[in-house]
Amino acid sequence: MENKNYTPVFDDNEMKTVEYHKSKYPAQMAAVMPLLWMIQEKYGWISTDAMKYVGDLLKLPHDHVLGVATFYSMYFKKPVGKYHLQICTNVSCMLCGGYDIFNHISRKLGIKNKEITPDGIFSIEEVECLGSCATAPMLQINNKEFHEKLTTEEADKLLENLRNSN
Ligand code: FES
Repeated sequence: MENKNYTPVFDDNEMKTVEYHKSKYPAQMAAVMPLLWMIQEKYGWISTDAMKYVGDLLKLPHDHVLGVATFYSMYFKKPVGKYHLQICTNVSCMLCGGYDIFNHISRKLGIKNKEITPDGIFSIEEVECLGSCATAPMLQINNKEFHEKLTTEEADKLLENLRNSN
């Protein structure tokens, strides 16, 4: 998807899910995270208008939604590639070669932080702790697949496998 500020719309079924999330919590504010997740699952990333949309659905200030979306690296604030690689460079990972992994992948793909390869297959992002400090360095793909104690050789294999699976 192009890097533009799309305006999201939930259909009737999705609005039922919105109501379900709203009903789960005593305060509507708590439903921000599942609603942002719904947006990301539908559109691939979360635009500024999408954050406003979630704020309007929950009757919350837009700034509050923006604050939640920007705090968590699991929410993508820009379009991402088919495989979005998030590499942790926080303390444990940094000490165990997190920057070596990040720089290696960046060089290999020819893209910098938060950029997408021209074919749209890969994007990379340097992130804070992913909760796997004891098995650093850590890389995750699309918030779903985790690779721990990663080496540059394993990173090469991983990229090759992902590319071949297209
Ligand atoms: S510091 Fe990298 S996972 Fe915690």
